[in-house]
Amino acid sequence: MRAHPASAADPSQEPSGRYRRPATEAILLVGGKGTRLRPLTVHTPKPMIPAAGVPFLTHQLARARAAGVEHVVMATSYLAEVFEPHFGDGSALGLHLEYVTETEPLGTGGALRNVAHRLRSAPDEPVLVFNGDILTGLDIPALVATHRSSGADVSLHLTRVEDPRAFGLVPTDPDGRVTAFLEKPQTPEQIVTDQVNAGAYVFTRSVLDAIPAGRPVSVERETFPGLLAEGAHLQGMVDSTYWLDLGTPQAFVRGSADLVLGTAPSPAVPGRRGERLVLAGARVAEDAKLSGGTCVGAGAVIGPGARIEGSTILAGAVVEADAVVRDSLVGQGAHVGPRCVLQGAVIGDGAVVGADNEFLHGARVWCEARIPAAAVRFSPDE
Ligand code: GTP
Repeated sequence: MRAHPASAADPSQEPSGRYRRPATEAILLVGGKGTRLRPLTVHTPKPMIPAAGVPFLTHQLARARAAGVEHVVMATSYLAEVFEPHFGDGSALGLHLEYVTETEPLGTGGALRNVAHRLRSAPDEPVLVFNGDILTGLDIPALVATHRSSGADVSLHLTRVEDPRAFGLVPTDPDGRVTAFLEKPQTPEQIVTDQVNAGAYVFTRSVLDAIPAGRPVSVERETFPGLLAEGAHLQGMVDSTYWLDLGTPQAFVRGSADLVLGTAPSPAVPGRRGERLVLAGARVAEDAKLSGGTCVGAGAVIGPGARIEGSTILAGAVVEADAVVRDSLVGQGAHVGPRCVLQGAVIGDGAVVGADNEFLHGARVWCEARIPAAAVRFSPDE
């Protein structure tokens, strides 16, 4: 772990700066099966799918590091074996990383309890917790400062959404104290707030230790409502900066494009922000057009006349001549034939799509699938 000696110029060491001290430890929840993202998650756990050229988790780790975190414990379960070979001890990111794997998935709360023994913080110190699939510009130090100044047991990042029907709602009182955790609203009257749980928390360490051990626990459905019922102090901090839950293919592709464009913040994008990011070793035909935050992975090939907008083409994939790919993801080593049209589609790793096919509006092609060339193709003016 890197040492950060206190200095006279460090405001966090002064009495007036006592609320600005960073939390130095975090737990990252990265063990989910990522079912909504299939087939992308068949071979790769969600946090390891590349977004803007690096595994998505890299962006979260880099942002945590920038906020003063030094020690991160990864709570792994599904495809647990792939994390450590990539991130190792974390020193490349200036972090000390540890990995704990559940033998059976323990849910979000059970996973936290299962790794709590690896924390070094004192019982009254703050520990950050992040869902491993959230892309956000959250002011992490502000969430920690809110936690310290309010004296809360748990502080939650809340974000405002236009359509709260797909989310559990988290109303707060005028001081920001959470008053309830409400299930997804079924009727307009049940929409009492537009604030939703954004998947980043600060826990006072002793609260993590008190989660029941050895059985599945949902932090959202059991721990938080239970704490509230016991009279614990749960504080909400509304921060309406960039926020996206990358749980679905469309959101994942959007998030990657926003990282490339620079709309979404991350210190870990491997290149200049702009319309396109082409990784070393990719080959793009001179007259191919890449725009809207498109990312082309290492070793991928883009053929002449292809148009690719707002899309992610993973390593080793091939998009042949005159194909049109919009808001789509082409998996590792997949092959998209000439003149194909993809719009909001996902092509799984290693799939081969023959010439002239169209996949639109959320269509998904499974990993390794073989789709023959379309027999008949109508040109738009026919
Ligand atoms: P879906 O299956 O598509 O809902 O995705 P998911 O499995 O990732 O579930 P969800 O989005 O609700 O999970 C929120 C966060 O918690 C993600 O970062 C998951 O990786 C993580 N998570 C969910 N369940 C578990 C678990 O049992 N163990 C661990 N360690 N992490 C989990």
